[in-house]
Amino acid sequence: MTRFANQTVLVTGGTGGQGSSHVRAFHAEGANVVIGGIDAERGAALADELGPRARFVRLDVRDESSWSAAVHTAESAFGSLNVLVNNAGVQNPPATIENTDQATWSRILDVNVSGAFLGVKVTTPALRRATGGAIVNVGSIMAMGGTAHYAPYVASKWAMRGLTRTAALELGRDNIRVNTIHPGVIATPFIHEPAAGATAAISDFYSPAPFAVPRLGEPIDVTRLLLFLTSTAASFITGSEYVIDGGLQLGPALQAETA
Ligand SMILES: NC(=O)c1ccc[n+]([C@@H]2O[C@H](COP(=O)([O-])OP(=O)(O)OC[C@H]3O[C@@H](n4cnc5c(N)ncnc54)[C@H](O)[C@@H]3O)[C@@H](O)[C@H]2O)c1
Repeated sequence: MTRFANQTVLVTGGTGGQGSSHVRAFHAEGANVVIGGIDAERGAALADELGPRARFVRLDVRDESSWSAAVHTAESAFGSLNVLVNNAGVQNPPATIENTDQATWSRILDVNVSGAFLGVKVTTPALRRATGGAIVNVGSIMAMGGTAHYAPYVASKWAMRGLTRTAALELGRDNIRVNTIHPGVIATPFIHEPAAGATAAISDFYSPAPFAVPRLGEPIDVTRLLLFLTSTAASFITGSEYVIDGGLQLGPALQAETA
């Protein structure tokens, strides 16, 4: 399929995890892809593998000038920027609020919130020049409630909800749609490797067994929703939020024998 032929898509954190799944799928659908990331080796390897319709740009989402460089790459290499996926994100090492230092709090909010804010801000003129487009912010199931020991991460993902709604209001008349995806627990390094400063990974203590769909999410699950939301099939959808969690937020499923 070529749903994204002649379109250019920028994915932050595009070098691995969910990001590289998104990059590969957009590319397979005909898009030009700009892989934004901080892992230059993996980013360059992915761009090489995908060929002429792919570029890697070193993009630390906290740095406005690297956002400008990414937009410049998209427009100079491919003529326009049509889609932004604010996918990059970091989690805090688990700790209660009283045991969380301010540096950790600021680091998580810097990447997750300020990074997404800068993405919307810096790409808006380019999306307008392209006569419209779509932005998707990647939140989290943790933005549906509270999660003990994850205050910086939870607060950052709640903040993205407000960013999405405000941006959707500001940009709708420019034909730019802005939505949020809230993944549940997805099998990436994010859950299989300890967060910076942590000793255990989420997968050490989390099991999907009790939930309605008793498996971990795969990056492709999220990718499929993302492709829909950024395609013309979703042209009436903006300011919306999509939980994709296999029923995790519903709580444990009743076993047939105990129902
Ligand atoms: N995996 C899950 O269970 C899960 C659940 C809910 C939400 N999410 C969110 O999904 C998104 C993707 O996460 P993932 O599962 O692929 O995890 P991941 O850890 O594999 O990927 C995160 C990516 O963000 C990049 N990144 C970190 N700091 C950055 C910075 N300053 N600038 C640019 N890039 C930076 C990393 O290099 C990495 O490529 C994140 O926003 C995460 O919060 C993940």
